[in-house]
Order: sequence, then C-alpha cells, then structure tokens
Amino acid sequence: MEIKVIGSSSYKNSSDTKIVPAFDSEENLKDNSLGKEINKIIDNLRKQDDFTGKLGQVQSFRLNRTENPNKIIVLGHGKREELSLDRIRKIIGKAIEEAEKLRVKSIEIALQGEKDAGELTIEEKARVITETIILSKYKFDKYMSDAKQSTIKEINIVCDDEKLELVKKGSDEGRILGEATVHARDLVNEPANVMVPIELANRAELIGKESGFEVEIFDEIKINELGMKAFWEVAKASANPPRFIIMRYFGDKSNKNEVTGLVGKGLTYDSGGLSIKTKDGMLNMKCDMGGAAAVIGAMKAIAEAKLQVNVVAVVAACENMISGHGYRPGDIIDSMGGKSIFIKSTDAEGRLTLIDAVHYIIEHEGVNRVVDIATLTGAAGATLGNAASPVISNNDEFYDELEKASKITGEKIWRMPTFEEYKEQLKTKFADLTNSAGQPGMITAGLFIGEFVQDKPWVHIDIAPTAWSSKTSGYIKEGATGVGVRTLYYLVKK
Ligand code: BES
Ligand code: MN
Ligand code: ZN
Repeated sequence: MEIKVIGSSSYKNSSDTKIVPAFDSEENLKDNSLGKEINKIIDNLRKQDDFTGKLGQVQSFRLNRTENPNKIIVLGHGKREELSLDRIRKIIGKAIEEAEKLRVKSIEIALQGEKDAGELTIEEKARVITETIILSKYKFDKYMSDAKQSTIKEINIVCDDEKLELVKKGSDEGRILGEATVHARDLVNEPANVMVPIELANRAELIGKESGFEVEIFDEIKINELGMKAFWEVAKASANPPRFIIMRYFGDKSNKNEVTGLVGKGLTYDSGGLSIKTKDGMLNMKCDMGGAAAVIGAMKAIAEAKLQVNVVAVVAACENMISGHGYRPGDIIDSMGGKSIFIKSTDAEGRLTLIDAVHYIIEHEGVNRVVDIATLTGAAGATLGNAASPVISNNDEFYDELEKASKITGEKIWRMPTFEEYKEQLKTKFADLTNSAGQPGMITAGLFIGEFVQDKPWVHIDIAPTAWSSKTSGYIKEGATGVGVRTLYYLVKK
C-alpha cells in the first residue's frame, strides 16, 4: 500500500473511494468536488436517518456511476471544536475498517477545508492520519494459509497546493512512526518458539542495519564475564541462551554527554519458572518482551527521522523457564550492581533482568538519564485497567517530559506515588533486597529497579496492561499494540 500526498491542483480523481467528514450538528457538507447529487444523498442522510455526525458514526454508499469516486464513506467527526489528534486516530481507524469491508482499492482523504477545525495544525493532522492508516491496516497473518489480502492499494491525501510541503513533512513523520510501531507489533506477535533471544537479537541487528543505528550483541559468555548475575539467574534454566542487545544512535555528536538510555524488558517467554503461572496466565506470555519491542521500534523511528539526539538502548533478552538449572524461590543471588537479592518468587523475574541492564547502561554507556519500559506486573492493570500505563519516577522534570510526549501520542500514562513506606518493603532479613516486596505490586516492582539507577533522572513505565489487546478496535488490533514506540520517540525528540 502506498500513501501519497498530492496538491489539489494536480489531483486527478484517481481514488475509487472518498472519505467525507461530517461534523456533529453542522448543516450541510459543502463538498463541491462531489457534485450536487451526491451532496444531496449526504444531506438526506442527516435529515432522514439518525446520522448527526456524532464521533464514530459511519455510513458508506456505492454510487450509481462509473467515474471516481464511486464509493463514499461518510464519517462522523464529532463536534468541530472538539476534534483532537486522538479523535482523528479513532476516525481514521473506523474509515479503514469500513474501507476493508467495502473492499475498496484506493481512497481519497481531503485535508483542505478543515483548517478551521480546532487548534490542530495541518502538519500534525497529516502525521496522525498517516500513522493511523498504517496501524489500522496492520495484520499478523503470516502463519495463516488462507490469509485474506487487503484490497487497499493506494491512499491519496489531497491538500491545498500551498500546504503541500507541510503535509508531506507531517506524513513522512507519520509513516516513520507507523512503520516503527508495526515492527514492534510484529516482534511481539511472533510466537515464543520463533522469537527466542537469539532471534530477537538478530531482528534488532537487521533493523539497525536498515534504519541506521549501531547494534552490538553479547552472548552468554560475555554476559557472565561482565557479571550480569541477576540476569543470568533468570536466563540459565532455558535451553535457549540469553543475549544482551545494545543499540546506539548518536545524532548529536557535539553533545556527547547528553545521552538518553532506554531499557526494555526482553523476556521472550515467561512461564513463571518454579513459581509457575497458571495455564491462563501463561498463554500470552510471548508478550513479555513488549518493552524490548518498544525500544527497538523507538530506535528505528529515531534513526530514520535522523533526530539530532543521542540515544542508547539495551535489552537483556532471555526466557524464564523451568529446569534443573533454574533458580529457586528462597535462593539468595547477586547482581551486577553488587546488591544481594532474596528470591521470593521466580515469577518476579523481569526486575532481575532490568537491574543489570540499568546498571550496565549507566556504568558502561555513559547515559545521563534512564527510561525503563516493561511488561512488569499484573498489578499495573489492577490499578489503571487497560487504558493507561502507570509510571514512577525520581525526577519531576523528566516525568513532565514523558507526560508531554504521551499527550502527543495518545498513549496514556499516570504517575504513581513512591512513598518511603513502599521503599521500606524492599528490605528483607538475609539479603539487601527482596524481589517481591508485596502490594502495591506495580510500585514496589518499580522501586526495586530504582535501587539501581544511582542519581540519574529515571522513569519506569509498566506496560503490562497496555502492550497487549484482547480485542480489535479501530487502529488497535487483537494482540500486540506496539505501545511505547511513539511515546519514547517524542520523549527524546527535542
Ligand atoms: N510478565 C509478568 C507480568 C505480566 C502480567 C505481564 C500480565 C503481562 C500481563 C511478570 O513477570 C510477573 O509475572 N509479575 C508477577 C510479579 C509477582 C510475582 C510479584 C505478577 O504481576 O503477578
Ligand atoms: Mn513473571
Ligand atoms: Zn515477566
């Protein structure tokens, strides 16, 4: 599928389908390009049916004519003054759903005439439309022998000639972000028998080559040489060896002391280990490398957009399995940062891999601030449901930057408190820390990682409830969501 941006004077009605916006309770549509008769059809829709232009309403028509467009999709946009980027995402998601049903080949989306709507710039709109088209067209059907091909081959975004450059610029960024998110979804949706740690490392390497960032991989020998003891404790039960993945992008060589560190949880599968999960709890645990996918996707987008920033991302990739080589509840283990840890549960494994990754990135990659993103706790979903990812941070400014980024992308976050009482819970009798410090589980898990960030500004994002969707709805598809890719991109973009 191709997404083109075309100035209205050179657009030749090459699309069989046109998207027609309908704002809530506005009289008529005044789309002159469609001709009187079609405008009448749409007007009647408002008069005779219950079509007020409410957000999310959809009505499509096949027109009795051979010239283009011969199909129209009328889309309820809600109130004009309430149009937002997130609403555009919902609207475009609906449009693509409808277009797939109608089996259309090409679509025209006109951007002119909407410039009075809300505070949004035409560049932002073009970006979000493009990004959402790519997310909405996404399917993970590579293992289906009868996968149904989409008929949509071309989408034409048509705008006023004088806005062409702005719209192109927005659309280019949207394409980069959409594709990076789709790559992240693919990494997560790939089953755990395929997406073993070595495969994840190979994919990161390939993406790095294509998109322009450096990738270095440490094998199990190097992991042990470096003293990543907590990471190794989790990894060692598996027949699939772990890999430590490092991705570097230096787009601002004049500012080498300003480097953002991204750390993604990379459990390619989480059985729980000896603290075994239930059969339902295990079913979707290929998603436990959603944080890794987010940082790999973000690196792809950052490099392709050639952002003038420095970023290093790391992933401690392994599987949490069960075998005679595995660690046990009751063990006391060491970590790269030197603190000893009492293992209360082998299912609280993510934080063990993350502390060595965080310690490594601070000590060996010279980052001056750290983000970790992880499918870390079921408790995260118990607090906020699937609508948002809870966050904890040791730095107000850094958190505010993350919040700004999340407002741009619509990937909601919410800051949780880090009271002293919770930090106290991390203490235990026979070791420096316990890996399972009780409720509130999201916060104590995050604070455990916080014990290893030294004095660096840090944010911890728990995407356990948001990395995976149990149903398809618009641009969100059942399975991996690719959450985090776009928010991390905007966090580092200046
Ligand atoms: N990977 C899970 C968290 C998870 C749960 C991710 C549901 C996605 C969906 C994590 O490793 C885990 O097992 N956490 C435990 C921690 C507990 C043992 C302290 C949990 O949340 O139950
Ligand atoms: Mn676990
Ligand atoms: Zn896990």
